[in-house]
Formats: sequence, structure tokens, C-alpha cells
Amino acid sequence: MTITVTPLSDVLGAAVTDIDLSRELASDTISKIKEAWHEYTVLVFPNQSINDEQQEKFCRHFGELELVRTTNVANDHPHVMMITNVTDTGKPTALEDGEMMFHYDQCYYERPCLGATLYSIEVPDEGGNTLFANCTKAYEALPQKWKNRISSLKALNYYNYGSSPTTRPENIDTKTPQWVHPVVRIHPETGQKALYVSRLMSMRIQDVSTEESDEILYYLFDHMEQSQFVYEHIWSVGELLMWDNRCSVHARTYFAPEKRRMMRRVTVRDPVPVI
Ligand code: OGA
Ligand code: MN
Repeated sequence: MTITVTPLSDVLGAAVTDIDLSRELASDTISKIKEAWHEYTVLVFPNQSINDEQQEKFCRHFGELELVRTTNVANDHPHVMMITNVTDTGKPTALEDGEMMFHYDQCYYERPCLGATLYSIEVPDEGGNTLFANCTKAYEALPQKWKNRISSLKALNYYNYGSSPTTRPENIDTKTPQWVHPVVRIHPETGQKALYVSRLMSMRIQDVSTEESDEILYYLFDHMEQSQFVYEHIWSVGELLMWDNRCSVHARTYFAPEKRRMMRRVTVRDPVPVI
């Protein structure tokens, strides 16, 4: 059986069908998935029925699994976390609801994850969509003078899980994880350059004044969040979605707090540093 890959938009994203992720996958199927992932950045596998182990097993084809680092986890499943607004999951849970601004996962660590998967278990009938911005295309579309201006800049990335996911923090708590990364990074597998900043987590350009840092950052945020670089995923139950965290940022739209939303997340570790 060969998989079918169908683009979801001109920006990024493809649906992968004619595949059952609860089964053993042949190595040439994995190769085709990897090829599609590099081309489309976000892959969606609809109509899947998978448990924790099957999601973990799928992710292991792309690298080692990342331990959950932001919440307490169960010893027997240290790689699985529920991203949800409901509290009765019986599992390690990151309580998240409503809107969240664009971000790269774990960019506040020295080694951010390579990618992550979300499996949709419950979705609201309205809102709670996930937005993905193509940071390779956003970089390529920059005016040359901006490419030159940012080519060797670095930014401090920071996130405090206790603070609001819809505003930039006023102050940076020195005890909370933070790391300086290049503003433009090179994808280790495709060799393409991508903008590596985000409105939620990139706080400060290094070695320039605060005014210049703000000017650069807000220009880049506004640029990369334009609709021509953004795909909005409206979820159905039973989708496994995987994104490349080296060249795309993601965000979540508002949903009503009384509506249930539950995603199971498994994350893939990056074996190489950000360059
Ligand atoms: C995440 C995340 C967005 C969503 O799991 O890292 O940002 O739509 N999720 O739940
Ligand atoms: Mn995220």
C-alpha cells in the first residue's frame, strides 16, 4: 500500500491518507513520510485510532522521544502529556485553554525539540484551531536589506508557564528557562534558512538598544504572522498532526472555556544543536 499525500494549503501542510498508524510501518513508508514532512512542514493523518504506545512508536521513527520537561509526569509514560482544558484525564496534564500566541516549542532551552505530535481526542465544535506559520517562506520573502540586517543577530527566548499565553511578559525571571538562539536558523536536514523568533517567546535581540530590539522583533512578528504565511488547522477527532519545530511557529485560537478540548502530545528530541 502506498500513502497518499494531499496538500492542505499553499502555505504548508499536507494530509496523509491510506495509512493506519496503529500498525507496523514499512521503512519505505517512513521514508515517504519524512520526505513529505520536509516538503510540507506539517502533516495531518486523519481518521486514526491510536493509543499512547502507538503514538510513541510512530514518533520514534523520527528520533528519540523527549521527556516531558514542563509538568510532572507518570514514570511509566515519561514522554506523554495531555494538552487540555479538562482536569479528569488521569494523566500528566498541561492545563491549557483558549488563545495562545505564536511560538516555537522549547526555544527557551539550549536544545529545543525537533518536532512534536498532537493526537486529537476531544475538540470543541468552534475555535481551538491551531495556526502554523511557515518561517522558511517568511524568511525568504523578507526584503534583502532585512535579511542583511538580521543575518548575524541573536535573540533571547524565554517563557514562563505561569504567565499569560496572550501577552508578552513585562519582566524576565532569571530563574525561568531562557536561551539565546540565532534569529535566522538553518534547518539541519533541508539546509533552508528560517526565521527563528516568535511573539510569545522571543524577548530581546542581543547587543542592540531596547528600541532597536523592539523595532526588529515587532517587524519580524508582524511579517511572519501575515496570512500568506499561515495555515489554520481546524481539528477533527482522531487526527495525528506532526509539525517541524525547526521551521514553523504555531499558535492557538480562542475557544470557550466550557468546551472540552483534549490532545495527546508526544515530542521528538533534536540530536543536533540550533545553528
Ligand atoms: C503545543 C501547542 C497548540 C494547540 O502543544 O505545543 O502549542 O493547539 N499546542 O493546542
Ligand atoms: Mn506549542
